[in-house]
Amino acid sequence: MAVYGIIILLAYLIGSIPSGLIWGKLFHGIDIREHGSGNLGGTNTFRTLGIKAGIAVTLADILKGTLAACLPLLFHSDMHMLIPGVIAVLGHMYPIFARFRGGKAVATSGGLLLAYTPPLFLFMLLFFIVSLKVTKYVSLSSILTAVATLTLTLFIGDPVLIIVVAALATFVIYRHRANIGRIRNGSEPKVKWLDRKPK
Ligand code: G3P
Repeated sequence: MAVYGIIILLAYLIGSIPSGLIWGKLFHGIDIREHGSGNLGGTNTFRTLGIKAGIAVTLADILKGTLAACLPLLFHSDMHMLIPGVIAVLGHMYPIFARFRGGKAVATSGGLLLAYTPPLFLFMLLFFIVSLKVTKYVSLSSILTAVATLTLTLFIGDPVLIIVVAALATFVIYRHRANIGRIRNGSEPKVKWLDRKPK
């Protein structure tokens, strides 16, 4: 039982590591939550601090989910790996190290699926890229990807996976409430480099 508690606690602490905040403070002396969309995620890091920072923070956020999901293996526990993965996503959204103002669940959820079922992660990634190309909104692409991943999961038929992906999709949609409002009133920013015409 004690091992279960340690895994859950570690998963929450791993998820709570505020990658975007650390990068912003360390290399630029700013809190990215005071810039752009105010979100502590990879997209706002791209937007505020550029491509290198955006890639680093996105990869770190993915890694948090992957690492947390692997904790049962590391501790030789029979706990289902999706459980600490979901806890890490909660930590990412409500991080103890950043006054509970965290990200929108996308990258860390991806990391969790990468650990549990890499093909589903690949689907998620490809679907996201295609929807971003079509819509040019990262937020809308995140929501569409969450719904598409849940739909595919229904066909895979793993009950625990279905419940977890349904929870993750709910988190993603809930955390994008402000983005949905901005898309509706036309003030959500599109990804600029996708608008560039080839010379
Ligand atoms: O993963 C978060 C993304 O979907 C939206 O980020 O900064 O545009 O609110 P942002």
